[in-house]
Amino acid sequence: MKKGIKIVTIGGGSSYTPELVEGFIKRHHALPVKELWLVDIPEGKEKLEIVGKLAQRMAAEAGIDMTVHLSYSREEALPGADFVTTQFRVGMLEARAKDERIPLSYGVIGQETNGPGGLFKGLRTIPVIIDIVHDIERLCPDAWLVNFTNPAGMVTEAVLRYTNHERIVGLCNVPVGMQMGVAEALGVDGDRVRIDFAGLNHMVYGLNIYLDGNNIKQQALEAVADPANVSTMKNIAALGWEPEFIRALQVLPCPYHRYYYKTEEMLAEEQAAAEETGTRAEVVQGVEEELFALYADETLRTKPEQLEQRGGAYYSEAACSLINSIYNDTRDIQPVNTRNRGAVAGIPAESAVEISSVITKDGPRPIAVDELPVAVHGLVQQIKSFERVAAEAAVTGNYETALLAMTINPLVPSDTKAKQILDDMLEAHREHLPQFFQSEKV
Ligand code: G6P
Repeated sequence: MKKGIKIVTIGGGSSYTPELVEGFIKRHHALPVKELWLVDIPEGKEKLEIVGKLAQRMAAEAGIDMTVHLSYSREEALPGADFVTTQFRVGMLEARAKDERIPLSYGVIGQETNGPGGLFKGLRTIPVIIDIVHDIERLCPDAWLVNFTNPAGMVTEAVLRYTNHERIVGLCNVPVGMQMGVAEALGVDGDRVRIDFAGLNHMVYGLNIYLDGNNIKQQALEAVADPANVSTMKNIAALGWEPEFIRALQVLPCPYHRYYYKTEEMLAEEQAAAEETGTRAEVVQGVEEELFALYADETLRTKPEQLEQRGGAYYSEAACSLINSIYNDTRDIQPVNTRNRGAVAGIPAESAVEISSVITKDGPRPIAVDELPVAVHGLVQQIKSFERVAAEAAVTGNYETALLAMTINPLVPSDTKAKQILDDMLEAHREHLPQFFQSEKV
Protein backbone atom coordinates (compact mmCIF):
# COMPACT_ATOMS: atom_id res chain seq x y z
CA MET A 1 0.00 0.00 0.00
CA LYS A 2 1.14 3.54 -0.68
CA LYS A 3 2.48 5.48 2.26
CA GLY A 4 0.38 8.59 2.00
CA ILE A 5 -2.50 9.92 -0.01
CA LYS A 6 -2.43 12.95 -2.28
CA ILE A 7 -5.64 14.93 -2.60
CA VAL A 8 -6.13 17.83 -5.00
CA THR A 9 -9.06 20.15 -4.36
CA ILE A 10 -10.12 22.33 -7.27
CA GLY A 11 -11.92 25.41 -6.03
CA GLY A 12 -9.69 25.19 -2.95
CA GLY A 13 -10.36 28.85 -2.11
CA SER A 14 -13.98 28.00 -1.25
CA SER A 15 -15.26 28.93 2.18
CA TYR A 16 -16.15 25.22 2.59
CA THR A 17 -12.50 24.10 2.55
CA PRO A 18 -12.13 24.11 6.37
CA GLU A 19 -14.92 21.46 6.43
CA LEU A 20 -12.85 19.21 4.24
CA VAL A 21 -9.67 19.82 6.20
CA GLU A 22 -11.46 19.02 9.44
CA GLY A 23 -12.72 15.75 7.90
CA PHE A 24 -9.20 14.72 6.87
CA ILE A 25 -7.84 15.59 10.31
CA LYS A 26 -10.51 13.49 12.05
CA ARG A 27 -9.84 10.45 9.88
CA HIS A 28 -6.08 10.74 9.58
CA HIS A 29 -5.42 7.43 11.37
CA ALA A 30 -7.42 5.48 8.73
CA LEU A 31 -6.97 7.86 5.82
CA PRO A 32 -3.39 9.16 5.89
CA VAL A 33 -3.61 12.22 3.66
CA LYS A 34 -0.02 13.33 3.22
CA GLU A 35 -0.50 16.10 0.71
CA LEU A 36 -3.49 18.35 0.23
CA TRP A 37 -3.24 20.64 -2.79
CA LEU A 38 -5.71 23.52 -2.86
CA VAL A 39 -6.02 24.82 -6.41
CA ASP A 40 -7.84 27.90 -7.60
CA ILE A 41 -7.87 30.45 -10.40
CA PRO A 42 -5.60 33.52 -10.11
CA GLU A 43 -8.69 35.75 -9.65
CA GLY A 44 -9.37 33.80 -6.46
CA LYS A 45 -5.89 34.43 -5.05
CA GLU A 46 -6.97 36.45 -2.05
CA LYS A 47 -9.47 33.81 -0.89
CA LEU A 48 -7.13 30.90 -1.56
CA GLU A 49 -4.34 32.49 0.46
CA ILE A 50 -6.62 33.15 3.42
CA VAL A 51 -8.30 29.75 3.49
CA GLY A 52 -5.04 27.97 2.59
CA LYS A 53 -3.21 29.49 5.53
CA LEU A 54 -6.08 28.52 7.83
CA ALA A 55 -5.87 24.95 6.48
CA GLN A 56 -2.12 24.95 7.23
CA ARG A 57 -2.76 26.18 10.79
CA MET A 58 -5.49 23.55 11.28
CA ALA A 59 -3.13 20.73 10.19
CA ALA A 60 -0.35 22.05 12.44
CA GLU A 61 -2.70 22.41 15.40
CA ALA A 62 -3.91 18.81 14.92
CA GLY A 63 -0.29 17.67 14.78
CA ILE A 64 -0.82 15.50 11.70
CA ASP A 65 1.69 14.86 8.96
CA MET A 66 -0.27 16.56 6.17
CA THR A 67 1.22 19.37 4.12
CA VAL A 68 -1.13 21.86 2.52
CA HIS A 69 0.05 23.29 -0.82
CA LEU A 70 -1.53 26.22 -2.64
CA SER A 71 -1.46 26.34 -6.42
CA TYR A 72 -2.95 28.17 -9.38
CA SER A 73 -2.01 25.48 -11.85
CA ARG A 74 -3.65 22.09 -12.40
CA GLU A 75 -0.58 21.18 -14.42
CA GLU A 76 1.52 21.59 -11.28
CA ALA A 77 -0.93 20.12 -8.79
CA LEU A 78 -2.48 17.06 -10.46
CA PRO A 79 0.45 14.69 -11.12
CA GLY A 80 0.40 11.82 -8.61
CA ALA A 81 -3.04 12.68 -7.22
CA ASP A 82 -5.08 9.80 -5.77
CA PHE A 83 -8.28 11.83 -5.41
CA VAL A 84 -9.35 15.06 -7.03
CA THR A 85 -12.24 16.88 -5.41
CA THR A 86 -14.07 19.67 -7.21
CA GLN A 87 -16.00 22.43 -5.45
CA PHE A 88 -15.76 25.44 -7.72
CA ARG A 89 -18.36 27.89 -8.94
CA VAL A 90 -17.87 29.36 -12.41
CA GLY A 91 -18.67 33.07 -12.23
CA MET A 92 -18.80 32.85 -8.43
CA LEU A 93 -21.68 34.13 -6.35
CA GLU A 94 -22.46 37.00 -8.74
CA ALA A 95 -23.40 34.44 -11.39
CA ARG A 96 -25.53 32.54 -8.88
CA ALA A 97 -27.36 35.75 -7.99
CA LYS A 98 -28.25 36.21 -11.68
CA ASP A 99 -29.47 32.59 -11.84
CA GLU A 100 -31.83 33.48 -9.02
CA ARG A 101 -32.91 37.00 -9.98
CA ILE A 102 -33.58 36.62 -13.71
CA PRO A 103 -36.09 33.73 -13.53
CA LEU A 104 -37.77 35.43 -10.55
CA SER A 105 -38.34 38.53 -12.65
CA TYR A 106 -40.46 36.29 -14.94
CA GLY A 107 -42.37 34.77 -12.03
CA VAL A 108 -40.37 31.51 -12.21
CA ILE A 109 -38.39 29.79 -9.42
CA GLY A 110 -34.84 31.18 -9.32
CA GLN A 111 -32.63 28.56 -7.74
CA GLU A 112 -29.02 27.42 -7.97
CA THR A 113 -29.69 23.84 -9.11
CA ASN A 114 -33.34 23.74 -10.19
CA GLY A 115 -35.22 25.28 -13.09
CA PRO A 116 -33.51 27.90 -15.28
CA GLY A 117 -30.82 28.60 -12.66
CA GLY A 118 -29.82 24.94 -12.56
CA LEU A 119 -29.70 24.84 -16.34
CA PHE A 120 -27.40 27.85 -16.52
CA LYS A 121 -25.15 26.63 -13.74
CA GLY A 122 -24.78 23.45 -15.76
CA LEU A 123 -24.09 25.33 -19.00
CA ARG A 124 -21.27 27.28 -17.31
CA THR A 125 -19.82 24.37 -15.37
CA ILE A 126 -19.87 21.36 -17.68
CA PRO A 127 -17.25 22.58 -20.20
CA VAL A 128 -14.91 23.40 -17.30
CA ILE A 129 -15.34 20.04 -15.60
CA ILE A 130 -14.74 18.27 -18.92
CA ASP A 131 -11.46 20.21 -19.27
CA ILE A 132 -10.52 19.16 -15.76
CA VAL A 133 -11.29 15.52 -16.60
CA HIS A 134 -9.05 15.75 -19.67
CA ASP A 135 -6.25 17.03 -17.41
CA ILE A 136 -6.88 14.17 -14.99
CA GLU A 137 -6.73 11.63 -17.83
CA ARG A 138 -3.37 13.07 -18.86
CA LEU A 139 -1.76 13.82 -15.50
CA CYS A 140 -3.24 11.36 -12.96
CA PRO A 141 -5.39 8.84 -14.86
CA ASP A 142 -5.90 6.56 -11.84
CA ALA A 143 -7.30 9.33 -9.67
CA TRP A 144 -10.90 9.34 -8.49
CA LEU A 145 -12.82 12.49 -9.22
CA VAL A 146 -15.14 13.33 -6.33
CA ASN A 147 -17.40 16.10 -7.56
CA PHE A 148 -19.35 18.46 -5.35
CA THR A 149 -19.75 21.17 -7.94
CA ASN A 150 -23.40 21.82 -8.68
CA PRO A 151 -25.58 20.85 -10.36
CA ALA A 152 -23.88 17.65 -9.17
CA GLY A 153 -26.27 15.26 -10.94
CA MET A 154 -26.04 16.99 -14.31
CA VAL A 155 -22.26 17.30 -13.96
CA THR A 156 -21.91 13.56 -13.22
CA GLU A 157 -24.18 12.78 -16.18
CA ALA A 158 -22.01 14.94 -18.47
CA VAL A 159 -18.74 13.36 -17.33
CA LEU A 160 -20.17 9.86 -17.79
CA ARG A 161 -21.52 10.64 -21.26
CA TYR A 162 -18.89 12.94 -22.70
CA THR A 163 -15.58 11.66 -21.31
CA ASN A 164 -13.93 8.25 -20.94
CA HIS A 165 -13.03 8.73 -17.28
CA GLU A 166 -15.00 6.12 -15.34
CA ARG A 167 -13.62 7.06 -11.96
CA ILE A 168 -16.10 9.76 -11.03
CA VAL A 169 -18.45 9.96 -8.08
CA GLY A 170 -20.86 12.85 -7.55
CA LEU A 171 -21.58 13.77 -3.98
CA CYS A 172 -24.13 15.79 -2.10
CA ASN A 173 -24.97 16.47 1.50
CA VAL A 174 -28.75 16.17 0.98
CA PRO A 175 -29.04 12.44 1.85
CA VAL A 176 -27.12 12.79 5.09
CA GLY A 177 -29.19 15.91 5.83
CA MET A 178 -32.37 13.81 5.35
CA GLN A 179 -31.01 11.14 7.68
CA MET A 180 -30.33 13.78 10.34
CA GLY A 181 -33.77 15.34 9.75
CA VAL A 182 -35.52 12.01 10.35
CA ALA A 183 -33.40 11.37 13.44
CA GLU A 184 -34.33 14.77 14.80
CA ALA A 185 -38.03 14.22 14.09
CA LEU A 186 -37.84 10.89 15.92
CA GLY A 187 -35.73 12.33 18.73
CA VAL A 188 -32.87 9.84 18.28
CA ASP A 189 -29.16 10.01 17.38
CA GLY A 190 -28.41 10.33 13.66
CA ASP A 191 -26.26 7.21 13.48
CA ARG A 192 -29.18 4.99 14.52
CA VAL A 193 -31.12 5.92 11.37
CA ARG A 194 -30.44 4.45 7.95
CA ILE A 195 -32.28 5.27 4.72
CA ASP A 196 -32.40 3.47 1.37
CA PHE A 197 -31.99 6.29 -1.14
CA ALA A 198 -32.82 6.37 -4.84
CA GLY A 199 -33.54 9.06 -7.41
CA LEU A 200 -31.45 11.89 -8.76
CA ASN A 201 -29.37 14.61 -7.18
CA HIS A 202 -31.61 17.14 -5.41
CA MET A 203 -34.46 14.83 -6.47
CA VAL A 204 -33.71 11.88 -4.20
CA TYR A 205 -36.24 9.91 -2.18
CA GLY A 206 -35.95 7.76 0.93
CA LEU A 207 -37.60 4.48 -0.02
CA ASN A 208 -37.17 2.71 3.30
CA ILE A 209 -36.20 4.09 6.67
CA TYR A 210 -34.64 2.03 9.46
CA LEU A 211 -34.03 2.63 13.14
CA ASP A 212 -31.47 0.27 14.65
CA GLY A 213 -32.07 -2.05 11.71
CA ASN A 214 -35.89 -2.16 11.91
CA ASN A 215 -37.94 -0.73 9.08
CA ILE A 216 -39.89 2.15 10.62
CA LYS A 217 -40.88 3.92 7.42
CA GLN A 218 -44.48 4.62 8.48
CA GLN A 219 -43.45 6.02 11.85
CA ALA A 220 -40.75 8.16 10.24
CA LEU A 221 -43.11 9.51 7.57
CA GLU A 222 -45.65 10.44 10.25
CA ALA A 223 -42.94 12.22 12.24
CA VAL A 224 -41.65 14.09 9.18
CA ALA A 225 -45.20 15.09 8.15
CA ASP A 226 -45.84 16.61 11.58
CA PRO A 227 -45.72 20.41 11.18
CA ALA A 228 -43.80 20.56 14.45
CA ASN A 229 -40.86 18.73 12.86
CA VAL A 230 -40.23 20.62 9.62
CA SER A 231 -36.72 19.80 8.48
CA THR A 232 -34.86 21.51 5.68
CA MET A 233 -31.43 22.86 4.76
CA LYS A 234 -30.13 26.34 5.48
CA ASN A 235 -30.68 27.41 1.85
CA ILE A 236 -34.28 26.19 1.45
CA ALA A 237 -37.33 27.78 3.09
CA ALA A 238 -38.69 25.57 5.86
CA LEU A 239 -42.22 25.11 4.56
CA GLY A 240 -44.02 22.09 6.03
CA TRP A 241 -45.72 19.36 4.00
CA GLU A 242 -49.40 18.50 4.00
CA PRO A 243 -49.37 15.42 6.27
CA GLU A 244 -51.89 13.59 4.05
CA PHE A 245 -49.63 14.13 1.04
CA ILE A 246 -46.62 12.55 2.75
CA ARG A 247 -48.80 9.66 3.93
CA ALA A 248 -50.03 9.10 0.39
CA LEU A 249 -46.59 9.52 -1.21
CA GLN A 250 -45.20 6.65 0.86
CA VAL A 251 -41.59 7.73 0.36
CA LEU A 252 -39.55 10.47 1.99
CA PRO A 253 -39.05 13.52 -0.27
CA CYS A 254 -35.87 15.61 -0.08
CA PRO A 255 -35.86 19.32 0.85
CA TYR A 256 -35.53 20.32 -2.83
CA HIS A 257 -38.81 18.59 -3.69
CA ARG A 258 -40.50 21.65 -2.27
CA TYR A 259 -39.74 23.42 -5.56
CA TYR A 260 -41.85 20.81 -7.40
CA TYR A 261 -44.60 19.97 -4.92
CA LYS A 262 -44.99 23.48 -3.45
CA THR A 263 -43.99 25.58 -6.45
CA GLU A 264 -46.39 28.43 -5.78
CA GLU A 265 -45.52 28.77 -2.11
CA MET A 266 -41.78 28.53 -2.76
CA LEU A 267 -42.01 31.18 -5.46
CA ALA A 268 -43.81 33.52 -3.05
CA GLU A 269 -41.13 32.83 -0.41
CA GLU A 270 -38.35 33.57 -2.89
CA GLN A 271 -40.00 36.77 -4.07
CA ALA A 272 -40.47 38.04 -0.53
CA ALA A 273 -36.91 37.08 0.46
CA ALA A 274 -35.47 38.75 -2.64
CA GLU A 275 -37.08 42.02 -1.53
CA GLU A 276 -36.38 41.74 2.18
CA THR A 277 -32.97 40.10 2.59
CA GLY A 278 -31.82 39.51 -0.97
CA THR A 279 -31.69 36.17 -2.80
CA ARG A 280 -29.78 33.25 -1.30
CA ALA A 281 -26.62 34.14 -3.25
CA GLU A 282 -26.84 37.70 -1.97
CA VAL A 283 -27.25 36.49 1.61
CA VAL A 284 -24.36 34.06 1.17
CA GLN A 285 -22.13 36.89 -0.10
CA GLY A 286 -22.54 38.50 3.32
CA VAL A 287 -21.91 35.22 5.14
CA GLU A 288 -18.77 34.65 3.06
CA GLU A 289 -17.40 38.06 3.91
CA GLU A 290 -17.90 37.30 7.56
CA LEU A 291 -16.30 33.86 7.19
CA PHE A 292 -13.24 35.14 5.36
CA ALA A 293 -12.74 37.86 7.97
CA LEU A 294 -12.68 35.10 10.59
CA TYR A 295 -10.43 32.84 8.51
CA ALA A 296 -7.93 35.68 8.14
CA ASP A 297 -7.43 35.83 11.91
CA GLU A 298 -4.08 34.17 12.51
CA THR A 299 -5.11 32.95 15.93
CA LEU A 300 -7.90 30.82 14.41
CA ARG A 301 -6.71 27.21 14.18
CA THR A 302 -9.97 25.22 13.89
CA LYS A 303 -13.12 25.34 11.75
CA PRO A 304 -15.31 28.20 13.00
CA GLU A 305 -18.90 27.47 13.96
CA GLN A 306 -20.19 30.23 11.68
CA LEU A 307 -19.62 27.92 8.71
CA GLU A 308 -22.80 26.16 9.80
CA GLN A 309 -24.84 29.03 8.37
CA ARG A 310 -24.13 27.58 4.94
CA GLY A 311 -26.28 24.94 3.26
CA GLY A 312 -23.38 22.51 2.99
CA ALA A 313 -23.65 20.98 6.47
CA TYR A 314 -22.15 17.44 6.60
CA TYR A 315 -20.31 18.18 3.38
CA SER A 316 -17.01 16.93 4.78
CA GLU A 317 -18.76 13.91 6.27
CA ALA A 318 -19.89 12.84 2.81
CA ALA A 319 -16.60 13.57 1.03
CA CYS A 320 -14.24 12.14 3.62
CA SER A 321 -16.30 8.98 4.26
CA LEU A 322 -16.44 8.29 0.53
CA ILE A 323 -12.70 8.78 0.04
CA ASN A 324 -12.02 6.68 3.12
CA SER A 325 -14.24 3.84 1.88
CA ILE A 326 -12.68 3.78 -1.59
CA TYR A 327 -9.16 3.91 -0.15
CA ASN A 328 -9.80 1.22 2.48
CA ASP A 329 -12.24 -0.85 0.39
CA THR A 330 -14.66 -0.84 3.32
CA ARG A 331 -17.72 -1.93 1.29
CA ASP A 332 -20.10 0.07 3.43
CA ILE A 333 -23.23 1.68 1.98
CA GLN A 334 -23.32 5.37 1.05
CA PRO A 335 -25.62 7.44 -1.17
CA VAL A 336 -23.67 8.73 -4.18
CA ASN A 337 -24.17 9.86 -7.77
CA THR A 338 -22.98 7.07 -9.98
CA ARG A 339 -23.80 5.22 -13.19
CA ASN A 340 -27.23 3.58 -12.90
CA ARG A 341 -26.36 0.25 -14.57
CA GLY A 342 -29.96 -0.92 -14.30
CA ALA A 343 -30.34 -0.21 -10.57
CA VAL A 344 -33.36 2.07 -11.14
CA ALA A 345 -35.62 0.60 -13.82
CA GLY A 346 -36.78 3.12 -16.41
CA ILE A 347 -33.66 5.32 -16.14
CA PRO A 348 -30.99 4.71 -18.80
CA ALA A 349 -28.31 2.27 -17.62
CA GLU A 350 -25.55 4.71 -18.60
CA SER A 351 -27.09 7.71 -16.82
CA ALA A 352 -26.18 9.06 -13.39
CA VAL A 353 -28.50 8.38 -10.46
CA GLU A 354 -28.22 9.26 -6.78
CA ILE A 355 -28.52 5.97 -4.98
CA SER A 356 -27.38 3.98 -1.96
CA SER A 357 -24.32 2.09 -3.16
CA VAL A 358 -21.74 -0.29 -1.77
CA ILE A 359 -18.42 1.58 -1.80
CA THR A 360 -15.49 -0.54 -2.89
CA LYS A 361 -11.93 0.22 -4.00
CA ASP A 362 -13.29 -0.07 -7.54
CA GLY A 363 -15.92 2.53 -6.85
CA PRO A 364 -19.62 2.50 -5.98
CA ARG A 365 -21.83 -0.48 -6.77
CA PRO A 366 -25.43 0.82 -6.84
CA ILE A 367 -27.97 -1.29 -4.98
CA ALA A 368 -30.85 -2.14 -7.31
CA VAL A 369 -34.28 -0.85 -6.30
CA ASP A 370 -36.22 -1.89 -9.38
CA GLU A 371 -38.86 0.66 -10.43
CA LEU A 372 -39.57 3.73 -8.29
CA PRO A 373 -43.14 4.10 -6.98
CA VAL A 374 -45.51 5.24 -9.72
CA ALA A 375 -46.18 8.64 -8.09
CA VAL A 376 -42.52 9.69 -8.30
CA HIS A 377 -41.21 7.72 -11.24
CA GLY A 378 -42.42 10.16 -13.90
CA LEU A 379 -40.93 13.27 -12.30
CA VAL A 380 -37.57 11.53 -11.89
CA GLN A 381 -37.62 10.50 -15.55
CA GLN A 382 -38.55 14.02 -16.62
CA ILE A 383 -35.71 15.58 -14.62
CA LYS A 384 -33.32 13.01 -16.05
CA SER A 385 -34.42 13.99 -19.56
CA PHE A 386 -33.89 17.64 -18.63
CA GLU A 387 -30.38 16.87 -17.31
CA ARG A 388 -29.46 14.96 -20.45
CA VAL A 389 -30.66 17.66 -22.83
CA ALA A 390 -29.02 20.34 -20.67
CA ALA A 391 -25.70 18.45 -20.68
CA GLU A 392 -25.88 18.17 -24.46
CA ALA A 393 -26.54 21.91 -24.74
CA ALA A 394 -23.57 22.62 -22.48
CA VAL A 395 -21.25 20.52 -24.61
CA THR A 396 -22.48 21.64 -28.04
CA GLY A 397 -23.39 25.27 -27.31
CA ASN A 398 -26.50 24.76 -29.41
CA TYR A 399 -29.18 27.39 -28.80
CA GLU A 400 -32.13 25.19 -29.73
CA THR A 401 -30.96 22.38 -27.47
CA ALA A 402 -30.69 24.88 -24.61
CA LEU A 403 -34.22 26.12 -25.36
CA LEU A 404 -35.45 22.54 -25.37
CA ALA A 405 -33.86 21.91 -21.97
CA MET A 406 -35.38 25.11 -20.55
CA THR A 407 -38.86 24.32 -21.91
CA ILE A 408 -39.05 20.70 -20.73
CA ASN A 409 -38.08 21.67 -17.20
CA PRO A 410 -41.24 21.29 -15.09
CA LEU A 411 -40.64 24.63 -13.33
CA VAL A 412 -40.84 26.61 -16.60
CA PRO A 413 -44.45 27.24 -17.65
CA SER A 414 -44.19 27.80 -21.43
CA ASP A 415 -41.93 27.73 -24.48
CA THR A 416 -42.36 31.49 -24.90
CA LYS A 417 -41.32 32.26 -21.36
CA ALA A 418 -38.50 29.72 -21.69
CA LYS A 419 -37.18 31.61 -24.70
CA GLN A 420 -37.38 34.98 -22.96
CA ILE A 421 -35.57 33.69 -19.88
CA LEU A 422 -33.01 31.87 -22.01
CA ASP A 423 -32.21 34.97 -24.06
CA ASP A 424 -31.86 37.13 -20.98
CA MET A 425 -29.67 34.64 -19.16
CA LEU A 426 -27.44 33.94 -22.16
CA GLU A 427 -26.75 37.65 -22.37
CA ALA A 428 -26.20 38.03 -18.64
CA HIS A 429 -23.76 35.09 -18.48
CA ARG A 430 -22.12 35.69 -21.86
CA GLU A 431 -18.56 35.82 -20.51
CA HIS A 432 -18.88 32.34 -18.99
CA LEU A 433 -20.62 30.72 -21.97
CA PRO A 434 -18.10 30.91 -24.82
CA GLN A 435 -19.60 27.79 -26.46
CA PHE A 436 -22.78 29.76 -27.28
CA PHE A 437 -20.92 32.68 -28.84
CA GLN A 438 -18.37 30.85 -31.03
CA SER A 439 -19.10 32.82 -34.17
CA GLU A 440 -18.01 35.99 -32.40
CA LYS A 441 -14.49 34.65 -32.02
CA VAL A 442 -11.88 36.31 -34.22
C1 G6P B 1 -27.21 22.42 0.00
C2 G6P B 1 -27.00 21.65 -1.27
C3 G6P B 1 -25.73 22.00 -1.92
C4 G6P B 1 -25.62 23.49 -2.08
C5 G6P B 1 -25.79 24.18 -0.75
C6 G6P B 1 -25.88 25.67 -0.91
O1 G6P B 1 -26.37 21.95 0.96
O2 G6P B 1 -27.09 20.29 -1.09
O3 G6P B 1 -25.70 21.37 -3.17
O4 G6P B 1 -24.38 23.83 -2.63
O5 G6P B 1 -26.96 23.78 -0.15
O6 G6P B 1 -25.65 26.28 0.30
P1 G6P B 1 -25.46 27.85 0.40
O7 G6P B 1 -25.10 28.13 1.81
O8 G6P B 1 -24.38 28.22 -0.58
O9 G6P B 1 -26.78 28.44 -0.02
